[in-house]
This record gives sequence, structure tokens and C-alpha cells, in this order.
Amino acid sequence: MANSNLVEAQKAKNDEFYTQYADIEKEISAYLEFAPDVFRGKTVLLPCDDPEWSNFTKYFAQNFERFGLKKLISTSYAVESKKYKSGYQPTLFETSDPQFDNIKTVRNGKIFTLSNDKTGDHKVNVDDLEWHYLEGDGDFRSDEIKRLRDESDIIITNPPFSLFREFLAWIVEVEKQFVIIGSLSAITYKEIFPLIKENKMWMGNGFHAGNAYFSSPSANEYAEGIYNPETGLVKFRNVCWFTNLDHGRRHQPLPLMTMADNLKYSKHKEIKGKKSYDKYENYDAIEVPFTDAIPSDYDGVMGVPVSFLDKYNPDQFEILGSNRGVDQDPNNIYGRGSYINGKEVFKRLFIKHKRKVK
Ligand SMILES: C[S@@+](CC[C@H](N)C(=O)[O-])C[C@H]1O[C@@H](n2cnc3c(N)ncnc32)[C@H](O)[C@@H]1O
Repeated sequence: MANSNLVEAQKAKNDEFYTQYADIEKEISAYLEFAPDVFRGKTVLLPCDDPEWSNFTKYFAQNFERFGLKKLISTSYAVESKKYKSGYQPTLFETSDPQFDNIKTVRNGKIFTLSNDKTGDHKVNVDDLEWHYLEGDGDFRSDEIKRLRDESDIIITNPPFSLFREFLAWIVEVEKQFVIIGSLSAITYKEIFPLIKENKMWMGNGFHAGNAYFSSPSANEYAEGIYNPETGLVKFRNVCWFTNLDHGRRHQPLPLMTMADNLKYSKHKEIKGKKSYDKYENYDAIEVPFTDAIPSDYDGVMGVPVSFLDKYNPDQFEILGSNRGVDQDPNNIYGRGSYINGKEVFKRLFIKHKRKVK
């Protein structure tokens, strides 16, 4: 297979990863713990889903009353439009329904909605979900799904990885609240970094120990160690939740040592025993190669790894820019590359303590 075909095949596979119920529950619980009424009276849209068996749909439908939701909408993308098509079989749920349509089942997307008690048991839950075929294929970029977006308050999903930038732009252009899954490397994309810098988007509560496990129709095509045949899940290390809903972890201050203590006691050999932190030669900032080595008493600018964002507390720190290109640095200082003793240091964010610390 030509190299570009391989890349396309990989991208197509990367769009089909399904989120586990426990991960959704853990993430959403963090927002509820911080603001118990975060979903009350809200319309939640779950686009890019497969509502018949999506854990997002199941979780929100099961908790509809507890969260005080006004409406739940979940939509799926047509089988024929998907880049990765693995032996599709409509479910019994669909085929046994009078509206089942041989052609629409592959060509159209589906929509599931939940807003009130249909079964007459005085509860609103999974049994009250209504569904029908969409007019189109359920592409989030279509006018049909855009109308649903505009009607909703909060958008929650694990979108196709290959369209992550487009998906986020689609949310941001109408200023909706959101909780979505994406790759950590998205942080330094030029459309995404400004949102992070301006505290319009941040990292969510997170996957357990930073490891995300997904199911996938192509799971067994992954190497051993990434694919676990026992669980049938594929492991990702660099995947995280992005959101603009607040949660408690975001306000926990990062515990830090003074510069002198770091130089004496740091667990990192790159810091312990040195006389001072390295300084960048092309601007006034120190290099801090590990987030837990940020000195508590340094008032100046510090270059830190991108993984700092997982510990970023906006009450404690301010983000000034990144060295991933001039467009990520409004002051035109850090974007032109960072050098120490003639060597370039990549993927750094430039931060400062928010309050004077000395
Ligand atoms: C990463 S999967 C996640 C599925 C589900 N949200 C979950 O977390 O279990 C992304 C889904 O989006 C679908 N998709 C791909 N392109 C899409 C598009 N343009 N519009 C809507 N959905 C799309 C994929 O087929 C896939 O089912």
C-alpha cells in the first residue's frame, strides 16, 4: 500500500473509537461535584455518536432525571459515510421497528431524543428515547446537525479524531459549552492554543492515570501492549478531555518547592545538584523541564513542558505563550524558538506565577 494510503487507512481507523461508560461517568461526575446543577434545565447534544449502543447516550438517558435535563439529543453518522466500514448489521431494535428502512439504515444518520415520559411509568429514562432517521447522513457540518447544535446548551462527545480541529471550531463559533475528547497534541494547534491561553477551554478532569482505553472495530489490528485481547480495548496515552465546564481539580494549587529546595532535593537528576536553572539565551526566562520542578518563588517567566496543562490552575499561573510558532505568541517573544547553549528546546509553554511570589 502506498504510504499516503496507509496514512489515510490509519486516519479512518482513528475515527472509530468508542468511549467506556466508566470514563464518561468519572468525567461527568467531576463537573457535577463542582456545580451540582450544571445540567439542570439544559439541552445536551451528543453528536458523532451511535445512539443505539453509545455509552454517552446510555449514561445521559439513565441520569436524565437526576441531572434535571430538559432534553437529550443524540445523533449518529451514516454507515456509508464513515471512512472505516466494518461489517455493518442493523440492530434488532432497528429492524423490528415499523420505520426500519433498508436503504436509510446505511445512507442516513439517526437521531434519538429524550425529553418526557412516553411509556407512562412516570419516569423519564432510556425507555422513553424516541428515534428516527435523519434527513441527511448526520455529518456534524450539515445544516441539519447545525440546527441541533444551535438548539442545544452543552455538546458532549468523543468526535472523530481526524476532524478534531473542525469539530472544536464548530462548537466555538456558536460559543456553546462542551466536554469533548481529543488528543493532547491538539493543545499546540494554532486554532486551539489561543483558547487555552485565554481560559476559554481547559483540560477536563481526565482519564484514570492518564491512560484512556477505548473499544474499536479494528482493535485487534493494533500491536500487543496497545491492544489487550482480554478486554478487547485499545490503550491511548495522549488522549484527554477538553472542556469549558469548570471542575474542582482545576482549582487545586500545584504543590511546589522553592528554587533552592528544588536544586537541593529535586527527584529529577536534571535539576538536583545544579547551581541554577538553565536560562534561555534568546529571552529572559528559565527552563523548567518538569512541571513538578516549577519553583514556588520565581517571579519571572518559565518555560515548561506542554504536559503542565494537566496541572494548570488559572488562579495560580498565567500562560503567556508557546514556542510552537509566532502565531501562538501574541507578544512575539517566545514563538520564534527557544535556545539554551545553542540547542533548541521544543514544545514549551511560557508561564508565570499569577501573583508576585517574592
Ligand atoms: C471517536 S468515535 C466516537 C463515537 C462515540 N461518540 C463514542 O465516544 O463512543 C467518532 C464517531 O464519529 C463518526 N464520524 C466521523 N465523521 C463524522 C462526521 N463528519 N460527522 C459526524 N460523525 C462523524 C465516526 O464514524 C465515529 O462513529
